[in-house]
Order: sequence, then structure tokens, then C-alpha cells
Amino acid sequence: MGISVGMVGLGAFGSHFIKPVIDHPEVDRVALCDLDPEKLAEKAKQFDISECYSSLDDILASDIDAVMIITQPWLHAPQAIQAMEAGKHAYTAVPIITSPEGDGQLILDWCDKLVEAAGRTGMNYMMGETTCYRPETIYCRRKAAAGEFGHFCYAEGHYFHDMEHQLYDVAKWRWGKDWNDRRRGNVPMHYPTHSTGGIINITGAHVTEVSAMGYTKPDEDWFLEDTDSGNTHSDMTALYRMSNGMVMRHCEFRRIGTPGIETFRLYGTEGSFERNFNGSIWMTRTTQDDVRLDEVSDPLPEALAAEKGGHGGSHSYLVHEFVSSIIAQRQPLVNAWEAVRYMAPGVMAYESILKDGETLKVPDWGDAK
Ligand SMILES: NC(=O)c1ccc[n+]([C@@H]2O[C@H](COP(=O)([O-])OP(=O)(O)OC[C@H]3O[C@@H](n4cnc5c(N)ncnc54)[C@H](O)[C@@H]3O)[C@@H](O)[C@H]2O)c1
Repeated sequence: MGISVGMVGLGAFGSHFIKPVIDHPEVDRVALCDLDPEKLAEKAKQFDISECYSSLDDILASDIDAVMIITQPWLHAPQAIQAMEAGKHAYTAVPIITSPEGDGQLILDWCDKLVEAAGRTGMNYMMGETTCYRPETIYCRRKAAAGEFGHFCYAEGHYFHDMEHQLYDVAKWRWGKDWNDRRRGNVPMHYPTHSTGGIINITGAHVTEVSAMGYTKPDEDWFLEDTDSGNTHSDMTALYRMSNGMVMRHCEFRRIGTPGIETFRLYGTEGSFERNFNGSIWMTRTTQDDVRLDEVSDPLPEALAAEKGGHGGSHSYLVHEFVSSIIAQRQPLVNAWEAVRYMAPGVMAYESILKDGETLKVPDWGDAK
């Protein structure tokens, strides 16, 4: 027997996950939920789903087994905790939570509460970090499992997403009439998971300390002091020490003259992986081989394998991992303890930037219980 899954948040991103959930062979029943009645009616018709709820409270009062929460980012952690306390397994999109006011302590407090709730309720929490299921991550996880990196010594994680690449549009639909007023700017390091997730997941190491710096464009008109977050840096660079001794550089750039990329490079004492705009390579001291990422995949149910979805084909894997972890009664790959390890480094990196690059400790909540 399969499980029942409720899709909460049917916006621009959330809608992409409805089909793989319907198609998953171990999902028997799918429900939809959104505060917006028009979106709810439109998606119910498009996917021929009759079980609909007009709020998170309503769907949590039903007998649904699990909810996939793809709402606005500052809602994720409180909604996931509410769901787990109602006896539901919970998935959220990334990041765990944001603070429009740029309050790093608030983010860390929610990390604390999320981990505590996952441990106390025994329900599954999974963060949907797309990078963890991109082909380069799948490829490097295999190389790491085979010991081909040797000892990890250095990594670079970066998320180059220029403001001109739809980010003003995101602000417009998210903040409505306030989009160009106090809500201008945000803290790039408070959305660190695409850059940190792959490296932390593959190496199994976590960040222990950080020193970071920020860049401000001379004619900057978005990242300004007189805004809710008060952040003045579009581009932020952090240097981390990790628990296995390696060093990681992390770039969150929102003013950058590139087509945009979210990926990593990972170096070991025996072998290394690099990805850039031209392709990917696996190297040793004496060899250098192109890696065909379009040929890299992990097993998926047939119905999800044909069309894996966006963000490097990660959407199908995310759905499959959430569903199969519940069926198998095991922790998902990006469980609460793992998810906070992707989040806390960015939060402390911004604190370091505010302190002129001072080296700061990064909190850790330990391994999954
Ligand atoms: N690569 C990635 O992992 C990636 C890419 C894009 C977006 N995202 C994340 O996905 C999330 C959603 O983004 P989006 O662009 O779809 O947002 P959106 O604003 O288009 O949609 C959010 C939806 O959630 C609904 N909602 C909010 N509170 C609710 C509640 N209590 N009950 C029911 N419905 C509720 C809203 O009505 C809205 O329809 C964001 O957090 C974003 O960070 C991740």
C-alpha cells in the first residue's frame, strides 16, 4: 500500500512537482492546497484532482500522510514544524527559512526548532535541495563512495544568479506593490543551500568556521542600507574550514556577468572534479577525462525516469526520495540535521561580513537521530 501526499503551495515552482507525485507508483492519493482559490481551481482542473484544501490548517486536519510545502521561503520552517506536530511527514522547498529583515539569529533559531521537532515527533522532514540530485552530485557521490577522491582537500561552491535573470520578477510577484520599496535587496548568503549542499552531502563533512567578505557595485540601486534587510552587498564570498580539515570557498553572487550557474568543484588528494560553463571533467595526477553529465543517473521508478523535470533533472529524484524514505521508515538524504548543515554556514558568513571578515564558529546540530 502506498501513501497519500498533499501539495501545499501551487505557485511558480510548486506546480512542477504535482505530476511526479501523481506518477509515483507508491503514492495512492494526491491532494492540493493553496490559499489562492484561483490557483487551486486551475491546478485541480489541469491535473484532475478533486481533493482540495484552502489552507495548510485544513489539510493538516485531514488524514493525509505527508505534505510537500512549496510556499514562500519565510514560511517553510514554521509550516514544516506545524505539519510534523500534526503527525504528517513534511517536505519543504529550500531554504529552511529566510528573514526579509536579514536576521541571522532568527534563521538559526528556526534551524534549532526544526531539528528539535523532527527528533521529538519522529516524522520525516526533508529539504528539497535540488543540487543534491543534479548529475554532478550523483557522479561525485559515486566517486566518493569508491574512495577515488582520496582525502578531500578543497572545494568551491557557487551560485551565480544575476539580478537581471528574473530576480526582479520574483521580487515583484512575491512582494506585490512593495517590491521596489523597503523589500529591496536581501541577503544572498541567507540562501546558501545550492552552493553548500552538494559539497557537504558528498564529503559528509560540515562547516566549523568561516571568514567572509562582500562586494558592493559602485552604482548599486538594489542592495541598499535603507531597506528592511539593510544589506549592501550583492556578491558575497566565504572561506570555510570543514570538520574533515578541508577548506571550502563559497560564492553567492547576484551581480555577475555570466549566464548563471549553480554548481561546485571538488578536489581530493587522488582525484578531482570540475564543472564550468563548457562542461565537466574528472582528473587525477595523470589523467583528464570529460564527464558526460547527461549520461549520469540513479535508479527511478519508470514513470518518473522518462521526464525528470527541471534543475538538472532533480525534481523526480526529490519526489522519489521523500516518498521512498517514508515507505522505508528511514531518514531522507537531506533530513533536518543535514539541511541545517547547508544553511548555518551562509548565516554565519553574513555575520562575518558584518564584522569585517572576522573568523566565526559555525553551529552544528550533529548527525541525524
Ligand atoms: N532550485 C530550487 O530549489 C528552487 C527554485 C525556485 C523556487 N524555489 C523555492 O520554492 C518556493 C516557492 O517558490 P514559488 O516561486 O513557487 O512561490 P510562489 O509565491 O509562486 O508560490 C507560493 C504559493 O504558496 C501558497 N501559500 C502560502 N501560504 C500558504 C498556506 N498557508 N496554505 C496554502 N498555500 C499557501 C501561496 O498562495 C502561493 O500560491 C520558494 O521558497 C523558493 O525559494 C526553489
